[in-house]
Amino acid sequence: MPASVASPLLRVRDLSALRAAVSGFRHKGLRIGFVPTMGALHEGHLALVRHAKTLSDVVVVSVFVNPKQFAPHEDFDRYPRTEDKDAQLLESVGADLLYLPSVDLMYPAVFASSVHVEGPARELEGTFRPQFFDGVATVVMKLFNQVQPDVAVFGEKDYQQLQVVKTFVRDLDLPVNVVGMPTVREADGLALSSRNAYLSTDERQTAARLIVELNAVAEAVRSGGDREKALDAAKANLLAAGFGPVDYVELRDADTLAMADAQTPNLRLLAAAWLGKTRLIDNIAV
Ligand code: PAJ
Repeated sequence: MPASVASPLLRVRDLSALRAAVSGFRHKGLRIGFVPTMGALHEGHLALVRHAKTLSDVVVVSVFVNPKQFAPHEDFDRYPRTEDKDAQLLESVGADLLYLPSVDLMYPAVFASSVHVEGPARELEGTFRPQFFDGVATVVMKLFNQVQPDVAVFGEKDYQQLQVVKTFVRDLDLPVNVVGMPTVREADGLALSSRNAYLSTDERQTAARLIVELNAVAEAVRSGGDREKALDAAKANLLAAGFGPVDYVELRDADTLAMADAQTPNLRLLAAAWLGKTRLIDNIAV
């Protein structure tokens, strides 16, 4: 196991303690890696932490269930909160500091600012969750300013989120290197997600169908098949398997997330669909 600078894992809840720890790291000339999360950690999150460790000297992980990225009807209240288990997992992979800000710390009563991204934030998740990327960009901007990382690691599981973060980091000249990591999956292909905990036993079996259908579309596209027909078949098959509604299954430009056409060099296939009360998202390179 890699040696950790501050062992055991330091748990920090207030901003002045975080700033003191960060300036201590900086004074020692240590490179800071950062993995922002909402907790209920699984192997997907841990893969990001392990990768952050290879890119930096100390790794800070935040756990903050960010109310600004949930609409009032969404699952903010029931989102799983498993702090002690998260801390144990983080210690086992050698994270150095767990930052656990409260909602009041992040959003005091007087709070008037927001980070808004156009481009890749429009459409897809932006259509179905209109408040989502403002909430994500605002909290990630705050976390970057608090933690001051040299490098931050995000999962391709949330591919559109990764592009949105890269976009505002570039546009607003933030001095942080944003790195993406491939999606970690279960044996049957289902992408690991904290929200998989909501699925019933039957739904859990059905859930694997999402990646099966994405792989089928990707294969059809690669072999020169009719793209619209392949996308329609995937949606129909998901509905027949018990998903519904299917919010989208779309081929996009992998870099800009603009609509893809026959000339688009790099394609990304992205999907979101409901299974009972759970909304699943996934995406793959084509
Ligand atoms: P959360 O859903 O907890 O995810 C935290 C990070 O873990 C994100 O970068 C996400 O893409 C990555 N991740 C989740 N499941 C993964 C998997 N199966 N394989 C690889 N990486 C995976 O995404 C958020 O939290 C929030 O929006 C956040 C960025 C923390 C802002 O609130």
